[in-house]
Amino acid sequence: MKEKIQSLINEAKAKVEAAKELIEINELKVSFLGKAGAITSLLKGMKDVPQEQRPEIGKYVNQARDTISDIISNKMQELEQKALENKMMKEKIDITIDEVDATRGSLHPCTLVINEIVDIFTGLGFTVGNGPEIELDKFNFQLLNIPKDHPSRDMQDTFYAGEDILLRTQTSAVQARTMINTQPPIKIICPGKVYRPDYDATHSPMFQQIEGLVVDKHITLCDLKGLLDLFAKKLFDSNTKTRFRPSFFPFTEPSVEVDVTCSVCHGKGCRICKGTGWIEILGAGVVNPKVLDSCGIDSTKYSGLAFGLGVERIAMIKYGIPDIRILFENDSRFLKSFK
Ligand code: DAH
Repeated sequence: MKEKIQSLINEAKAKVEAAKELIEINELKVSFLGKAGAITSLLKGMKDVPQEQRPEIGKYVNQARDTISDIISNKMQELEQKALENKMMKEKIDITIDEVDATRGSLHPCTLVINEIVDIFTGLGFTVGNGPEIELDKFNFQLLNIPKDHPSRDMQDTFYAGEDILLRTQTSAVQARTMINTQPPIKIICPGKVYRPDYDATHSPMFQQIEGLVVDKHITLCDLKGLLDLFAKKLFDSNTKTRFRPSFFPFTEPSVEVDVTCSVCHGKGCRICKGTGWIEILGAGVVNPKVLDSCGIDSTKYSGLAFGLGVERIAMIKYGIPDIRILFENDSRFLKSFK
């Protein structure tokens, strides 16, 4: 009996060692340890063993069962580990592969200018407002003291999309929209696209403006001058000087145009400033009381200042760009120079 048991152990060892797949091990487990397996039939045969030998043989059989069970589960672990390693090898990701050449883009010079200007004004407590590019005549013109058929409409050629619908010609439309919806204090900056049928070296049918509006008690031309002088010094450099020339806009009274000392020749006169030493950067003024009243703000209590500038124009001045059209041609050699 003992020999039979030993040879069973040897047989199990040999078969398990030869097995290469988990499935074979499972089959061996059934054939040795299963209900109809070799060990079970040994245990069943115990009844034929003479009474006095039973304890010893019983112990032997139990040891054999434990040994075979150990052999099988060790091999199982080994094969499982191998299978896992194989799987990991197959799914291996090569993190040493060369970087794909995905060149990073850069911000458009106009976006750089908008970001910089918005930063300056938000730093002074302004919030950013906006309005639609397809606008009603009412907001683009009428509420800004530019009635229908008034000669001042000629200041801005317009793309109409219907009797009262147009592509906004100025971000000043956002002033009207804001005032009609909000009571003072108002302190906003509004960047956005505007449209006019013009096309040459300094005009494009689509261009961008930034509008500013402050409405509160006791706002005067002095506030406008102080604000815009500070702005010019932050945008160009701290030595920049500003000059306020009388002008006309229907929505401001008085109205001014603001010049800065040329950042190229510092006021001496050069090609960029056409020999004058000054460059015009924006239009501005004290909000016409008529505009406040038509937008539902009591002009006896409140006053305001407003200004509007052309983003492309500022970009051209800041970066020495001679022709506005370069900004819209998407020539990557030009755009890359702003990296
Ligand atoms: N909207 C004017 C334009 O497009 C610019 C402008 C001038 C805006 C004076 C203003 C302002 O807010 O006060 O020509």
